[in-house]
Amino acid sequence: MDYKELIREAFKARESSYAPYSHYNVGAALLTKDGKIYRGCNIENAGYTPSNCAERTAFFKAVSEGDMEFEAIAVVGGPAGTPEGEFEYAAPCGVCRQVMAEFCDLEDFKIILAKSEDEYKVLSLNEILPLAFTPKDLE
Ligand code: THU
Repeated sequence: MDYKELIREAFKARESSYAPYSHYNVGAALLTKDGKIYRGCNIENAGYTPSNCAERTAFFKAVSEGDMEFEAIAVVGGPAGTPEGEFEYAAPCGVCRQVMAEFCDLEDFKIILAKSEDEYKVLSLNEILPLAFTPKDLE
């Protein structure tokens, strides 16, 4: 799978972002090992704490549909109205990293942080969540 396509999907997901409080819109596109893509956006709430990040929306959509084998996730984020070409990298929060560690291989799963389809970096889960606590720890 071309990471460009996954990034494009993350930008499309960002269009659905519901962020009336932070005005910070995030989109994610989660690629399964069999090539399916689940989009996710952040969804905020007047109660603040019930808010959900884009990455977790994508993961929970996938898992609730029976998909649990993942290859990569592309993430794009920035303040509402950010013009094309002016995005900064938006890194997943700690809670989302922990959700990734529940389902993904620490070395093989790739996190693609993108400013655009052409400007992105690829990180492993190990890099962004060192010393992860995973299901293996409970075996
Ligand atoms: N947010 C995400 O969707 N993903 C992240 O990894 C970082 C933060 C959202 C949560 C909240 O709706 C807004 O960005 C500002 O924190």
